[in-house]
Amino acid sequence: TTAAERFQLSADKVEAAWGERTRGVLLASPSNPTGTSIAPDELRRIHEVVTRRGGVTLVDEIYLGLSHDERYGQSALALDDQVVSINSFSKYFHMTGWRLGWLVVPDALLPAVERLAQNLFICASTVAQYAALACFETESITEYERRRAEFKARRDWFIPRLEALGLPVPVMPDGAFYAWADCREFARRLGVADSWDLTYALMERAHVAVTPGRDFGHAETAGFIRFSTASSMAHLQEAIARLEALARP
Ligand SMILES: Cc1ncc(COP(=O)(O)O)c(C=O)c1O
Repeated sequence: TTAAERFQLSADKVEAAWGERTRGVLLASPSNPTGTSIAPDELRRIHEVVTRRGGVTLVDEIYLGLSHDERYGQSALALDDQVVSINSFSKYFHMTGWRLGWLVVPDALLPAVERLAQNLFICASTVAQYAALACFETESITEYERRRAEFKARRDWFIPRLEALGLPVPVMPDGAFYAWADCREFARRLGVADSWDLTYALMERAHVAVTPGRDFGHAETAGFIRFSTASSMAHLQEAIARLEALARP
């Protein structure tokens, strides 16, 4: 995918890649590592291609609750109840360690999903399910909304500073808590070959931990690194100060 596509699939690419053994399309919106969502019209076109081919459209919407832009903040289920929506208590509800999530599936897929669940994990733990009930208390939602606003504030503070350092973020994330930065120029200035070597250099020379692009695939990922803004604002400020010191000639 490309920056012009918001690093998301397009209907043309789905059509071109469809083969004899293809059964469906899985995408994440907002995505990890880019924090960008698919445009609703493009998702509709993809779903049309998939439906015409007799496949299933699955959308990982785990970051939907951490959306910062109304244009992209809607579930794919608004499009069609034949879409499979994947979600979890890990992100918006901050319950990552509790291993609890959910799927919304069309009725026709229910028997197959039940067979998978029974053979893979039987059920989510009772304790986690009771804990999750507390997420829907008004007091909890107030806290989650405060944290969502904080994620957006971190994005708005952090990304312009990355760009000023020579780490451009080609598509402003509309959700989640990541910055997918083009690090080619920065790596060149530090005298390292690619994003893999750069992550080591940042760790060793600035004690800043970032994720190399290649953890997420092959397409141009040697030129990209992923920053996470899930850390506190104080940590992000410290990280920028260290990167500034490193980048100074
Ligand atoms: C897009 C996406 N889907 C799923 C997951 C995993 O979620 P869970 O904690 O529910 O296993 C992650 C975690 O980083 C993610 O980024």
